[in-house]
Amino acid sequence: MAREEAVPILIDSFVGIYRWHAKRTLFRVSIVRGVREGDDLIGVSMLENLAPGVGYVYYIAVASAQRRRGTGRLLLDDALERFRSDHAEIVYAAAEEDNLASLALFGGRGFRVVERDEMGYQEGGLGAWGLRSKMMVVSGEVLLGVRINPPGTSIALVPPLG
Ligand SMILES: CC(C)(COP(=O)(O)OP(=O)(O)OC[C@H]1O[C@@H](n2cnc3c(N)ncnc32)[C@H](O)[C@@H]1OP(=O)(O)O)[C@@H](O)C(=O)NCCC(=O)NCCS
Repeated sequence: MAREEAVPILIDSFVGIYRWHAKRTLFRVSIVRGVREGDDLIGVSMLENLAPGVGYVYYIAVASAQRRRGTGRLLLDDALERFRSDHAEIVYAAAEEDNLASLALFGGRGFRVVERDEMGYQEGGLGAWGLRSKMMVVSGEVLLGVRINPPGTSIALVPPLG
């Protein structure tokens, strides 16, 4: 997928500074994932490993005519799966505080608002100390976070039980 292909979705999905930043991020971010329907690109996500163990969803956007059909959730689940297999412990995303669609999408996968004075993620909270400057969380946005792959928990298959 050529990254340019995602530009119309970003123009359709964001205005003002978000549009400017989303377009800029599209060409700078490490991972861009897309969803196609037939030949058409209908959704896109932009993902970054911000630090060892820390994933960041910069943007998820779905073409406005294609919303509420599961594409955003597909992209978010794909992002979480990638971060999980990269051994991320925590994943962050920023959302406008009045963007109900975005808050519900992330909330449905366990994300919650990270308070500004919250204990850091290394200390058991979700606080993103030292990382916010890389995230571009602007006024009017909230930082969301979810813990995945919690340290100390691992699952393993056991031999057949008798
Ligand atoms: C947020 C966005 C990506 C959701 O994409 P989508 O493909 O419509 O989302 P889905 O169909 O996968 O919906 C998943 C869940 O998100 C929530 N949701 C999505 N749109 C919603 C809306 N308009 N109102 C309330 N909840 C909504 C619901 O919980 C939904 O689950 P449900 O359909 O089982 O109720 C899309 O609205 C969008 O591109 N918005 C503009 C860009 C943006 O704000 N991106 C997010 C910040 S980076």
